[in-house]
Amino acid sequence: MNFSDSEIVASIMRARGYDVAEKADHADVIMVNTCSIRDNAEQRVWKRLRELKSLKKRNISLQIGIIGCMAERLKEEILEEHLEVDFIAGPDSYRVLPDLIEAAVSGQQAANVVLSEEETYEDIHPVRLHSNGVSAFISIMRGCENFCAYCVVPFTRGKERSRNPQTIIDEARTLFENGYREITLLGQNVNSYRWIDDNKDEINFPKLLKMVAQIDPVSRIRFTTSHPKDLSDELLRVIAENENVCNAIHLAVQSGSTPVLERMNRKYTREYYLNRIAAIRSIIPDCAISTDIIAGFCDETEEDHQNTLSLMREARFDYAFMFKYSERSGTIAAKKFEDNISDDVKGRRLEEIIELQQEISLQSNQNDMGKIVEVLIEGQSKKSTSQFMGRDDRNKVVVFDGIDLKKGDCVRVKITKCTSATLIGEIVS
Ligand code: 5AD
Ligand code: SF4
Repeated sequence: MNFSDSEIVASIMRARGYDVAEKADHADVIMVNTCSIRDNAEQRVWKRLRELKSLKKRNISLQIGIIGCMAERLKEEILEEHLEVDFIAGPDSYRVLPDLIEAAVSGQQAANVVLSEEETYEDIHPVRLHSNGVSAFISIMRGCENFCAYCVVPFTRGKERSRNPQTIIDEARTLFENGYREITLLGQNVNSYRWIDDNKDEINFPKLLKMVAQIDPVSRIRFTTSHPKDLSDELLRVIAENENVCNAIHLAVQSGSTPVLERMNRKYTREYYLNRIAAIRSIIPDCAISTDIIAGFCDETEEDHQNTLSLMREARFDYAFMFKYSERSGTIAAKKFEDNISDDVKGRRLEEIIELQQEISLQSNQNDMGKIVEVLIEGQSKKSTSQFMGRDDRNKVVVFDGIDLKKGDCVRVKITKCTSATLIGEIVS
């Protein structure tokens, strides 16, 4: 989401005469787009800020800005304790960034962290930053109102709001006309996407997905992320029926224990989640499923942890993002529960989760041995110029030898080897 937001910021800045600098040393303004989701994300920003402080000593006219969720969450602290920071903007204030910078140039710290109920930046054409020219993100909604107990997002990104579908379709069409072959529709919970059109008809996410898929039937459409509580069969059918909607679903489970899920305010049980996995498997055979897991949430017992491991064995995720619980002040969990699992125990549980996931990912890749998959080439592989890398429909990374190929080409590859993270294969005609 931040990557996509940075592209919006670049566009707003460009409209006021700025351009993207190649190196920090060349820049007049540096903005750090920040994330507050876990403490280690914030620690990285503090470290970056120390580096920028020394850059500023060498170039006193340099303007430094903190933007995004940390700006929203820690405005006072940043302004009071970090005098090297010239301006601050929350996720809904990017339109006024050039004005904030102008105000900051006159010597005063400038800030805007007002959250909006309407801002979607829908009229802004993002500048594609560091793009491979093949894949791009389109943000379709902003904010989140799920209030998972551990999560800071509803406080830093505010109310849920959806973008006018016509602007999404126009953006997708422009990308395809410019050679992009894959777009990812982004939202904190895409299944909450909702737009009422002029005829008072509701456009929900499955409808939007179908509309976007029909623009260019040979280009791929992905989306992220869905909340299990409202992953509908209607959506699963749209994925199954539209060839170019990729067979990959990210469905964060967080925990395999119903009491923990209840304390997390996830609004589903272990059984309900497994039922959704069964629905995916029956409606979309060969769909990749990925997830997020938190180890060591408040009061998590050894039995709860074992239930997470057993759910992982049942669900057989293709890959997972796995984290230690990190208390965020202001969240429901910080107010209601004690962060009472020691760091050692969190660490050990996380290691067990990672180890099991690596085993499952390896088995999932081994099951692909001998299969022929369609790969969209993203570029040369990091290791060799005669090797290419791309992804298959399920988002699995595939590496193979090739000549006379370019980014954006689609090739059929037979899988011959694998690791837990990569499929390796040979082109077939
Ligand atoms: N501690 C650890 N992980 C968290 N996530 C969100 N908030 C926290 C937190 N306080 C994880 C969840 C979410 C992902 C984006 O980040 O797993 O799905
Ligand atoms: Fe956070 Fe839950 Fe919203 Fe995801 S759905 S952003 S975890 S509150």
